[in-house]
Amino acid sequence: MEKINIAIDGPASSGKSTVAKILAKNFRYIYTDTGAMYRSVTYLAIQHQVAFEDEERLVSLIERYPITFEQSEEGQLVFVDGTDVTAAIRQPEVTNNVSTVAAHSKVRQQLVRQQQKIAENGGVVMDGRDIGTAVLPNAKVKIFLVASVIERAERRFKENQEKGIETDFDTLKAEIEQRDYLDSHREVSPLKQAEDAVRIDTTGKSITEVVARITEVVQEKTGGV
Ligand code: DC
Repeated sequence: MEKINIAIDGPASSGKSTVAKILAKNFRYIYTDTGAMYRSVTYLAIQHQVAFEDEERLVSLIERYPITFEQSEEGQLVFVDGTDVTAAIRQPEVTNNVSTVAAHSKVRQQLVRQQQKIAENGGVVMDGRDIGTAVLPNAKVKIFLVASVIERAERRFKENQEKGIETDFDTLKAEIEQRDYLDSHREVSPLKQAEDAVRIDTTGKSITEVVARITEVVQEKTGGV
């Protein structure tokens, strides 16, 4: 059976990673969380005291410290230079600065190249902000997920609670709005729906419903994977 690539884009906490992981499991595809890569660079900047605005030094961090993924029983783990950073890259200090790091064109060039390499043989479900528009413009299936800000803040709040990260709901909502704004208004590859993407509003929808709808799209586009 032909192995296609599935691109899933959308704003923060729109449900991308949850559905992308399930789809990857169902289709036996590789899941790639590109947000985790931008988060890893932000984490490296904090560790090495590199300013989030310092594009050249951020690029040298990417060149020096490889970002890799590993599948485990608890899900996908993210490593930077062999160190497990899966939990560290979800901390608020990373979350609140990642949009600044992700706005640099040279940082994006480096990471996009790595993402394209991961997907070169197909069989990948990749989520992010520019997958359908810039990373995999030829992906056979492109999905753009959206949801109301309130619902997204509620999801993130619950996720944080489960991870033991203390957050205030209103602060979280303001941070999501701020990140949406920065991600959609940056000059290089802003968050934007690809013309040929299927838009799905996940507000009030269960994960099962969203996965079922995307599976239908995959089947429509491929005649059955
Ligand atoms: O999906 P996430 O919240 O983990 O992404 C973290 C940040 O990384 C997000 O605010 C914008 C950036 N990002 C990006 O610019 N391009 C991508 N393909 C993925 C994420």
